[in-house]
Parts: sequence; C-alpha cells; structure tokens
Amino acid sequence: MILVTGGTGYIGAQVVLQLLGHGQTVVILDNLCNSSRTSLERIARLGGRRARFVLGDVRNRAQLDALFADFPITAVIHCAGLKAVGESVREPLRYYDSNVGGSITLCQAMAAAGVFTLIFSSSATVYGDSPRMPIDERCATGLPTNPYGFSKLMAENVMTSLAASDARWSVGLLRYFNPIGAHDSGELGEAPAQIPNNLLPYLLQVASGQRDVLHVYGNDYATVDGTGVRDYVHVMDLAEGHWLALQALMGGSGVQVWNLGTGQGYSVLQVVDAFTRTCGVSVPLVFEPRRAGDVAQCWADPDKARRELGWQARRTLDDMLRDAWRWECRLAAQHRPILYTPRITPVAVAQAASELAAV
Ligand code: NAD
Ligand code: UFG
Repeated sequence: MILVTGGTGYIGAQVVLQLLGHGQTVVILDNLCNSSRTSLERIARLGGRRARFVLGDVRNRAQLDALFADFPITAVIHCAGLKAVGESVREPLRYYDSNVGGSITLCQAMAAAGVFTLIFSSSATVYGDSPRMPIDERCATGLPTNPYGFSKLMAENVMTSLAASDARWSVGLLRYFNPIGAHDSGELGEAPAQIPNNLLPYLLQVASGQRDVLHVYGNDYATVDGTGVRDYVHVMDLAEGHWLALQALMGGSGVQVWNLGTGQGYSVLQVVDAFTRTCGVSVPLVFEPRRAGDVAQCWADPDKARRELGWQARRTLDDMLRDAWRWECRLAAQHRPILYTPRITPVAVAQAASELAAV
C-alpha cells in the first residue's frame, strides 16, 4: 500500500489515480487545508476504486504513527505542503512549519515504521535564477527568492542528509516545472479556494468571466516577446512520472533527482494565444510591471528522467489548455448556467455543453 500525503490536492489526486490505475492500494493523508473530500469521490469515479482516506496532518507524529500501524504501507509519496509564494512571504513560519517541519516529522515516522522509500514533490524553484537553460539536474540549486522556495530546498536537504546517513533510504526528489491542466475527462482538476497566483488558474477564471482581466507581469524580459517563459507540463504526465519513479526507487538506495518538465518553454503571450486558438475564448489582458521574485525564463532538460525512468511528457500545450478548460467549464457550470458567462463564445459553449452531456 502506498501512502500519498496531500492526496486530495491538485497533483496528489492525479498521483492517486495513477497508482489505482496500476492496481496499487492507496491511503491518503490530508488535512484538507487546501482541498476537499469531493476529490475522493472524483478519484473513485475515475479510478473505479476508492483510496482510503485519513484526515490528518503530516506534522502530527502520533497520527502518523497510528497510520503506519494501521496500514501496510511500503512507500510514501509526499505531496502535502503549502504552495502559495506570496503567502509564504507574509507567513514564513507557517511555511517552514508545514513544508520543512512536516517533512521531518514524516521521515521520523517512516523510519520508526521501517518504511524507507520516499518520493518528494519538489520544485524547479530550487534552481533559483539559473544562468543555464535548459536546466538539468547537475545545475546547482540556487537561491530561491521566497520562503516557499527555501522550504522546498530545505526539505530536499533534509532528505538528502538522511539518505546519506542510512543506506536503507531510497528517496526520489521530483522537481516539477509548471504543472497545469486537468484530467482529460474534465472531471478532476485544480479548484483554487483563493485568488489564484499562477498563470493558468487565473487565465481560466478570466476566460470564464469570474475575473475581468489577466494581469501580465512584465513585458520587458529578454525573451521571445518580453513576457516570462516557463515549461508547462500536463498534470497527468506528471502523475505518470511518480509511478515510474516509484518503480525505480523500490529496492534501491540513496537519493535520485529527476526534473519533470517537457523541455519546451512558452511565454505568457504564447500561452494566451494558444488558449484562444484551442478553446475559442478571448482573454483580455493588461501589462503590469514585473512581479517580485519572478525569473525571466525557466525550462527543463528532462533527459535524465527519460533515460532513467523511461518518462517523457506526451501531452502538448494545447492538450493541457483544452483539458484545463474542460474542467473550468465544469466548475463554472456548477456555480451558474454556463450560457451566461460573458466571455465564452458559442464555439466554447457548444463544446462544453456536448462534453458535459457526454459524461
Ligand atoms: P495543493 O494545495 O492542491 O495540494 C496540497 C495538499 O496538501 C492539499 O490537499 C492540502 O490540503 C494538503 N496539506 C497541506 N498541508 C498539509 C499538512 N500539514 N498535512 C496534511 N496535508 C496537508 O497543491 P499541489 O499543487 O497539488 O502541490 C502538491 C505539492 O507539489 C506541494 O508540495 C507543492 O509544493 C508541490 N509543487 C507544486 C507545484 C504547482 O505548481 N502546483 C509546482 C512545484 C511543486
Ligand atoms: N503570470 C502572469 N500573470 C499571472 C500569473 C503569472 O503574467 O496572473 C506570469 C508570471 O509572471 C510568470 C508566468 O506567468 O512569468 C508563470 O507564473 P506562475 O505563477 O504560473 O508560475 P511560476 O513559474 O512563477 O511558479 C510556479 C509555482 C511555484 C514553482 C514554480 C516552479 O507557483 O511554486 O512554478 O515549479 F516553484
């Protein structure tokens, strides 16, 4: 049985689905601070089986000990954590407590239970403002620009030291680039509780009429059109990477680092254009000054994951945007009749309506 911490969250839920699809049994530990039990129903519907669920916190050692005593857990995928960059600047202690403290407590409980296989949801943010593009795993980790980034790097360091101290540990640090998209059924995706920080969820809310305009942060970077360039990766491809990483880690020893990205960067304007072309919805935008802490560009060299895991992102940017939009239409339809959302064109309405009818 695999323990997925944060398994009701955006990425964790896709990982759980992936594991169920490979016949694994799964237990989720989540405190639901940024997700809800609805994910469990969606996972069960799509996966044809239920994951077990325990409401709990990775910082709570007693809860973890009980969890390892109650379930025959052989490996852990640790997705639980806080991820809002701006919030981490305002509330650094909460971020270090959850992301670093929670990881330490989890590792302590794993060691006590004799479970030594661990995958950690890390981030390309640990590379800081890398002078080298594309970024491969030999690139030095840089200076993150915010407490969230530091917390990810610190958690990585904890796990690396631990593996160096005891050969029973087999740890995979998965450095995600920019995960976007939703399950291709349109039934499972990100449902931000607050104003989104990230490009795609914000763009989707503008497209569906919940927000007026997309703020584009910076059009004077040394990039193809002056806007920031990122390596967007479909969340289903990302989830597949976890399954392959788990195979590679089982029975192994030490720390392995893998970038999970496509190797292809797109600018903000390229993403907006692709969205309008693919989904038939216009997105009004306004240029703003650069956002503090942003890097101009960041994209992966994913070759190590290809060679060592046989992992390669298969889905295109258009796939990511189409799947994300399908999910957004579903969310929007739950709140109000889709026909009355202002920026959805007839094409998109027809498409969304037929997709909703098909489910
Ligand atoms: P998410 O917020 O959707 O999911 C995180 C889940 O963890 C949520 O369900 C939340 O309720 C739970 N959680 C938070 N703190 C917890 C705690 N102390 N104990 C138990 N549960 C807790 O975020 P996500 O996008 O799915 O991200 C998952 C992981 O991937 C995070 O660790 C994040 O830092 C990392 N990551 C995300 C991105 C991204 O762009 N989404 C990029 C790089 C890395
Ligand atoms: N952007 C906008 N408008 C917005 C939001 C973003 O123009 O409303 C721009 C940003 O300036 C940047 C690009 O879109 O150029 C991507 O920004 P995101 O916030 O979507 O993603 P980041 O690359 O800044 O950060 C994300 C996660 C981090 C993670 C990092 C690398 O938020 O947690 O990817 O994995 F560390």
